[in-house]
Amino acid sequence: MTIMNSETQTNSLTPSETKEKLVEVKNLKKYFPVKGGILKRTIGHVKAVENVTLSIYQGETLGLVGESGSGKSTLGHLILKLLDPTEGKIIFNGKDITSYSQRKIRPYRKNMQMIFQDPYSSLNPRMSVGDLIEEPLILHDRLTKKERQNRIIELLHTVGLDEETRFKYPHEFSGGQLQRIGIARALSSRPSLVIGDEPVSLLDVSVQSQVLHLMSDLQIKFNLTYLFISHDLSVVKHMCDRIAVMYLGRIAEVAPKHSLYKEPLHPYTKALIASVPGVDRKREKVKLEGNMPSPSNHPAGCPFHTRCPESHNRCTVERPELINMGNDHYVACHLYTE
Ligand SMILES: Nc1ncnc2c1ncn2[C@@H]1O[C@H](COP(=O)(O)OP(=O)(O)OP(=O)(O)O)[C@@H](O)[C@H]1O
Ligand SMILES: [Mg+2]
Repeated sequence: MTIMNSETQTNSLTPSETKEKLVEVKNLKKYFPVKGGILKRTIGHVKAVENVTLSIYQGETLGLVGESGSGKSTLGHLILKLLDPTEGKIIFNGKDITSYSQRKIRPYRKNMQMIFQDPYSSLNPRMSVGDLIEEPLILHDRLTKKERQNRIIELLHTVGLDEETRFKYPHEFSGGQLQRIGIARALSSRPSLVIGDEPVSLLDVSVQSQVLHLMSDLQIKFNLTYLFISHDLSVVKHMCDRIAVMYLGRIAEVAPKHSLYKEPLHPYTKALIASVPGVDRKREKVKLEGNMPSPSNHPAGCPFHTRCPESHNRCTVERPELINMGNDHYVACHLYTE
C-alpha cells in the first residue's frame, strides 16, 4: 500500500504509470468566501475542492462522479483555468500553469475545451451556428475566411450535421442536435483535452447514447483525452477507462472502471454502485442515507463518516489519505489501513 499524499508515486509499476500524463493536479483546493452581515465580511468558506491530487492520462476517459455539490464542476473549471485555485498545482502537458495569467494561458486555451450540460444556454441564441463555430477559430487559429468556412463545414460533417446547418440559429434545433453543435464548437480549436460537464444529462435517453457514441468516435479520430463529469454511474460505465469518485471536495476512490464496478472499496462507492440499475444483485446492498454535509462545514475525520455504515472511532477524528491498493486502485478509507 502506498499513501498518495502529494508528490508520492507508487513503487510498483501499475498500468497508468506507463502512460503519459496530460493533466496533473496536486493538492488542489478551491475555497469560495461566504459573505455575511451588513459589512459583507467573509464569515466562512465553501470548501468546494479540498486537497485533490489526480492525473488524467493521454488518450483516456476519466469519469468524475459524485453527488450534487461534491465539487466536480469546480474541479473541471480549475483544470481549465476558468477559476484560480486557492492552493495547489495544475500541470498541463508537463507545464505548471497554476499561476499563468489570462494572457499567458491563451495559447493553452485552444488545447482545453469544455462541453456544457445545457446546450440551450451555452450557445448564444443570437449567433448563427456558423458564427458559433467560427468564433473559437478566429480566436485561436490564423486561418483565412475561406479556410475557416471549410473547417466549419468539415466540423459539421464530423458531428453528423448537414453543412446548411451553419446558416441556422440555435432555436431551430433539438437538444441532441444542439449538443452536436456544442461538440463541433469545442473541437474547432483542435483541443487535446475536452471536459464534458454532464454533457448528456439533459438529453432524452434515446439521444444520450447517440451523443455518447459520437464522443467515443471523435475521441479515436482526434486522439482526445476526456474528463467526463456525471452524477450517473450508468452513463460513465460505458464511456470511461477509469473513474474517480468525489465526495465533499475530495477524491474518495479512483480506479480502472472494471475494478471499480467489480470490487468497489469505499463504502460511498459501494452505495453509489448499488443504486445503478442492472448491477450485480448478489452483492449486499449498501444504502445511502441522509445528505452530504455542507461544503462550508466539513466534518472532522473522514468526510463520509456521518453517513457511513462502517464508520468507527478513528473515522471521526482522523482524515484518511488516498492509498494505493495495487493495480491502479486508490481509496481513502480507514477500513484499508492498519
Ligand atoms: N462561484 C461560486 N461561489 C460560491 N460557491 C460556489 C461557487 N461555485 C460552486 N460553489 C459551491 O461549491 C460547491 C461545489 O459546487 P460544484 O458546482 O463544483 O458541485 P458539482 O459536484 O458540480 O454539483 P452538481 O452535480 O450539482 O453540478 C457547492 O456547494 C457550490 O454551491
Ligand atoms: Mg456540476
